[in-house]
Amino acid sequence: MYDTLKSIGRLRLAVSGTLVALGFVFALFAVGLGAGFGLGLGAPQPAFAQESDDDATPVHAHDPTNIWAIARGGQLYDNWAAVLEQEAPDQTHPAYPAAGKKKGKSTWRCKECHGWDYMGKDGAYAKGSHYSGIKGVRGVVGKDPAEIHKIIMNETHAYTEAMMPHSAMEKLALFLSRGQIDTDRYIDRKSKVARGNPRRGAQFYQTICAVLKLISVPSKP
Ligand code: HEC
Repeated sequence: MYDTLKSIGRLRLAVSGTLVALGFVFALFAVGLGAGFGLGLGAPQPAFAQESDDDATPVHAHDPTNIWAIARGGQLYDNWAAVLEQEAPDQTHPAYPAAGKKKGKSTWRCKECHGWDYMGKDGAYAKGSHYSGIKGVRGVVGKDPAEIHKIIMNETHAYTEAMMPHSAMEKLALFLSRGQIDTDRYIDRKSKVARGNPRRGAQFYQTICAVLKLISVPSKP
């Protein structure tokens, strides 16, 4: 009996360890998906392999529920309306710059103003068809999510509760505070192809992301 209990204990430990590891990978993938890219397409990069192989790297023991919320926040950042199965307003966002080339619904996406790389005017959207001229959101990393929530609710942003429920804003705030990554580490800026080892990535993709995709929605970069 005692032995059984002990092995159940061991099993539980093993399972929760796996969950933490999966959660970490899950968060990375979700951020990748949020940015509109599938990982596993790029040439093998040792840096990525080290990231997950190195036992010395501390694994952050985030509550898996939070990991989910953070990952969801990343998807919302990319395209909240699609994630929430909502229609964004037809009229162009009032804060969208006159010099920008987009119109209507897409101007309500966080990434349209702040960039898929979170860097706004200093990143991929510094010029070209997605030019916005607006600052990025890298500056709020580590900030109290409650403060970020207030920013999302401010007049500039003009999001109503009917468009975006409170809980979605909370996940966005959590993501911006704790989930942002340096995209240059995972996506090659020039080719827009994800770094990583396709064969290793395939295993994670098939067990985690394919499932995530079933409950998620396709999005355009
Ligand atoms: C139409 C353009 C537009 C869209 C869409 C938009 N924002 Fe903003 N956002 C702004 C502007 C303008 C500012 C103020 C920038 C400044 O102070 O220079 C801002 C500021 C912010 C800041 C503060 C950044 C800082 O460092 O001070 C955060 C955080 C933020 N936005 C999050 C979001 C989130 C989350 C979404 C999507 C739900 C979103 N924004 C969508 C235009 C936009």
